[in-house]
Amino acid sequence: PAMYGERKNSLGLNMNIHSQADDFIAAVQQYRDKQWQGGPIVDGKTVETDHQVSITSPQETAKQVGRIYWGDKKLAEQALQSANKAYRAWREVPVDERATCLEKFADLMEANRNELIALCSVEAGKGLQDGIDEVREAVDFCRYYAKEARKLMDGEIQLPGPTGEDNKLKLEGRGTFICISPWNFPLAIFVGQVVAALVTGNSVIAKPAEQTGLIAYRAVQLALEAGIPGNVLHFMPGSGAEVGSFLTSQEDIGGVCFTGSTYTAQAINRALAARTGPIVPLIAETGGQNAMLIDSTSLPEQVVTDVVASAFQSAGQRCSALRVLFVQDDIADRIFDLLRGAMEELEVGDPLLHETDVGPVIDGIAKTNLEQHISDIQQAGRLIARAPMPDYTQGGTFVSPTAIEIDSISQLVKENFGPILHVIRYKTEELDDVIDSINGTGYGLTFGIHSRNETFAYDIASRVDVGNVYINRNQIGAIVGVQPFGGRGMSGTGPKAGGPHYLTRFITEKTRSDNI
Ligand code: SER
Repeated sequence: PAMYGERKNSLGLNMNIHSQADDFIAAVQQYRDKQWQGGPIVDGKTVETDHQVSITSPQETAKQVGRIYWGDKKLAEQALQSANKAYRAWREVPVDERATCLEKFADLMEANRNELIALCSVEAGKGLQDGIDEVREAVDFCRYYAKEARKLMDGEIQLPGPTGEDNKLKLEGRGTFICISPWNFPLAIFVGQVVAALVTGNSVIAKPAEQTGLIAYRAVQLALEAGIPGNVLHFMPGSGAEVGSFLTSQEDIGGVCFTGSTYTAQAINRALAARTGPIVPLIAETGGQNAMLIDSTSLPEQVVTDVVASAFQSAGQRCSALRVLFVQDDIADRIFDLLRGAMEELEVGDPLLHETDVGPVIDGIAKTNLEQHISDIQQAGRLIARAPMPDYTQGGTFVSPTAIEIDSISQLVKENFGPILHVIRYKTEELDDVIDSINGTGYGLTFGIHSRNETFAYDIASRVDVGNVYINRNQIGAIVGVQPFGGRGMSGTGPKAGGPHYLTRFITEKTRSDNI
């Protein structure tokens, strides 16, 4: 199979080497009480608007992490006008120069890694390992897309000229991309969207999630420091209802790149359709009702390790996270026992501590909705286990990891974005119905299988309509360039982030048939 270059993924840090881990944790902890500031950045300058918002920490809801100014329609319009003027010159900049800016940006993120990890933790509630992985992913996106863009866009493609004319194909940016990113990967997904659009020769207006504007602000500062021109990359924190809706309903945009809920992606799709003017691409990566299927040949200890990681790491706040576990009836009791034992051991608490396994969910609204779902579904199902709640006095939006047995995936009306695992027993003769029920959700993001029967595993893998299948491992943590990530159906449009086709959606093509 084709390998995509010699580019290496970044290495991160091995938390099992205590001397390294201790220094790193101490360095990150120094930022615990820092107050960050941020705001919209238009034409390279931070704008102090009259709407300033306080950001608090999910693990300590009374504690302010910093303050950020929010943009509004007027400022978004100003940024769009500037971006639309700038992209024509930017797309003529040699791809090698644009790619080099991405690589410098990656280096700057690595140089500022501890601060970025601390921000991921205090602003988004992410654990230390998640923070390390987050910075790695952001860095990998930069280096991967830099390399892919050089390969894809270096010069024009010579085409045949049967009549003697000279035919060439050129790939170029589309205009201004509106990049709208989620809070669950406040650095990696934010950066991935933005750099993909930039390296292909587009201008960008980047709108971060409302909850995580400060880390995105810091990232934009570093991108500008790396040489991205200020009129090409604008930053527009603000409310989705005002700034997001305004930008996605404008005629003169080149495309939209969105990661978040299916509901919002559908609303953006409608807004784009309702505009007059150019028909532009929407690249959407949304949620899932991700399942894992365990057959009776699988190894229970390995299954439980991978189930716990897939369902509860990052407090279940990954679009890839496992939501519905199908267990073959013969081994279900054994799996349930081991799962109970493993969940008893989970440490829920302060994400800046090494011993913590599960941090808080993003905010009070998320906590209320998740607790409501647990209470509703528990009435229709049977509780298998709940991890102990933290002995933690600072407040915080913690939801204890929960596993509940239910009868059918159709009992789940929506994605529950948190540490809740639904478990369904199946009998071998029901397998076709199980596959139909998984495909019947309409989502298609990740799917896991545990089986030692290769033919069985491959057969099931081919029948489930998803973007990412994982066999005999956990189903989270896709690596850039290794497991290109993204789904189908209600889970998104593709192309896959961190994959060889992602950049093509940010590009338009022009042929020149030359008879000079
Ligand atoms: N890329 C992330 C993962 O694979 C998305 O949630 O876990």
